Amino acid sequence: MTAELSHAARASGAAVDDPLLTVADLSVRYGRTTAVNDVSFEVARGEIFGLVGESGSGKSSVCGALARLLPRSAQLTGAVQFEGKNLVALPEKAMRRVRGRRVALVPQQPMTSLSPTSTIGRQMQWYLGDQLENREVRETLAAIGLRPVLDRSANLPMGFSGGQLQRLLIAIASLSHKPSLLLADEPTTTLDATVQAQVLRLLLELRERLDLSIVYVSHDLAVIAQVCDRVGVMYGGRLVEVATVQELFTAPRHPYTQALMSAMPSRSQRGERLRAIPGSASGANRLPGCPFAPRCTRALEVCHRIMPAAEQIGGSMVRCHNPEVGP
Ligand SMILES: Nc1ncnc2c1ncn2[C@@H]1O[C@H](COP(=O)(O)OP(=O)(O)OP(=O)(O)O)[C@@H](O)[C@H]1O
Ligand code: SF4
Ligand SMILES: [Mg+2]
Repeated sequence: MTAELSHAARASGAAVDDPLLTVADLSVRYGRTTAVNDVSFEVARGEIFGLVGESGSGKSSVCGALARLLPRSAQLTGAVQFEGKNLVALPEKAMRRVRGRRVALVPQQPMTSLSPTSTIGRQMQWYLGDQLENREVRETLAAIGLRPVLDRSANLPMGFSGGQLQRLLIAIASLSHKPSLLLADEPTTTLDATVQAQVLRLLLELRERLDLSIVYVSHDLAVIAQVCDRVGVMYGGRLVEVATVQELFTAPRHPYTQALMSAMPSRSQRGERLRAIPGSASGANRLPGCPFAPRCTRALEVCHRIMPAAEQIGGSMVRCHNPEVGP
């Protein structure tokens, strides 16, 4: 059994044995826009949990809430239990001891997090300090393909490829304070398919070496399938299905998950953005019933009035009045 499967096998879609992170009824509002609505999920130690959904479904707002890195206008409710603390209620001063240390973030665009005018060696020194002299750390950096960065540390960031810089930032985020949770919000969107595959391999390797838990955000179900143990599918600010990758791909229950599957690019086109599902998600988070009702081919009358409750079907958690219940 591969490492990924052994992690996946420990957990059903709905619950995990040993949660590092428990998100309960999390909501994020920006003024009158409810970007995230009553979202609950758990992440086990050493698990990679994917969040997938169309643009605007609330994935980044969930990540921002976990790191408490949202604009001042954002209103947070619910609870995020992590290492004995509720991060939603933590004062900012205490949150600063968690952010970057216990919970680390990988930015989408590596260049925005690096100074263009300081050498890579200097910047590694800022983040890693004496650890840079540590043999184990240097071996880890070399093992994850960063030997050229170590060898050419007098160069500026522009002397390296986007993929090398992204891998370096992931390594820095993971190694500098040995966090237990890494938040990766679309870390490969700007990279080509080959480099994307290297970054995904790196995340799997770091998870094994450091026993990291990772929340991995992507538009792309094919990427999620390569790297995640379990997946949460978001639509209109709601988590509509949570399942192991295996179960999600063999028995998708929610009509939106099924639509995402059928919109997946073919193998030859992997890495591209999701193809469009008919209709638009615009305004979905303001609907009184199921946010997917206007686009759903299985919608019942009740769907337009009442938001379905979370229900367990097989190993999956599903919010739907008329889910696929077959094997
Ligand atoms: N700072 C903000 N102020 C007001 N509304 C916001 C803000 N940030 C996000 N939103 C709104 O919240 C909703 C969720 O946005 P979010 O960025 O979390 O979605 P996403 O799933 O990450 O989308 P994408 O795939 O495009 O990154 C959207 O309707 C978006 O317009
Ligand atoms: S609740 Fe109704 S509208 Fe929503 S996904 Fe299920 S069947 Fe479709
Ligand atoms: Mg986003």
